[in-house]
Amino acid sequence: MCSDLYSVTAQKIQAGLTTEFIGRQIHCYDTIDSTNNMAKREHTRSDGTVFIAQAQTGGRGRHGNTWISPAGDGIWMSVLLKPDIPLSQVAQITPVAGLAVCRGINRLFSETVDAKIKWPNDIVANGKKICGILTELAADTDAGHYVVAGIGINVNTHGFDGDLSQKATSLFLETGKKQDRIPLIQAVLAEFEALYTAFCAHGFSAIADEYKKHCITLGKDVLVLSGTKSYTAKAVDVDAWGQLIVEKDGENITVNAGEVSVRGIYGYI
Ligand code: BTN
Repeated sequence: MCSDLYSVTAQKIQAGLTTEFIGRQIHCYDTIDSTNNMAKREHTRSDGTVFIAQAQTGGRGRHGNTWISPAGDGIWMSVLLKPDIPLSQVAQITPVAGLAVCRGINRLFSETVDAKIKWPNDIVANGKKICGILTELAADTDAGHYVVAGIGINVNTHGFDGDLSQKATSLFLETGKKQDRIPLIQAVLAEFEALYTAFCAHGFSAIADEYKKHCITLGKDVLVLSGTKSYTAKAVDVDAWGQLIVEKDGENITVNAGEVSVRGIYGYI
């Protein structure tokens, strides 16, 4: 177990946590495969249970990508949720979590960082990705459906290899200082609970305006990648379901986050 100033423990997080249910149960691990996998294995735990690892050996990203998760460098955590909402709305929990991270980072680092969202849910600082979110839905014959919202924030990463160095950043790289992860975990969990509660009560419309205000994809020309096909279009709106509306040859096309990926024409965003 690490015991330095920057270590992450359930006790330290809960000492300053203002939430009612998210993070009331926290399980911290040194090294595990993936906090999303752990949350799934432990899905009978209560709504809002948080799983955090120092390091992940099998961190997973969207579209089957690997999420590199070295010890102490980031916040690798998953929130187990048992929402009472139609299955058709579950995918919208991803942008809810994205906005929560964006708010959390901006609350603590507004002097140096202006975090934005690259649709659907990459959090971006200075044009580079600082956080990714992987939301997974699963069902249990006894316990019904549950959702795992996995959040990966690059906090103290000193540098990225190869191609990633052009696309990824960390709070250390943006601020020039090693950061304590505890206040950020507390802020993100508090923002997540507030946004998620509003979303469960009123739907995506409860957060849509703020989401769109932070979404840097809007107004940009993007490359839409769908299977083996790709086309360029202009991102014009995010609809009531959190889907991206792009305009191509005067026609609006709805783009669903589960089916396609969207890239900037001139770089990552
Ligand atoms: C992405 O591809 O942008 C999503 C990355 C999500 C990474 C986080 S880290 C905590 C949780 N556990 C995982 O295996 N993945 C998510």
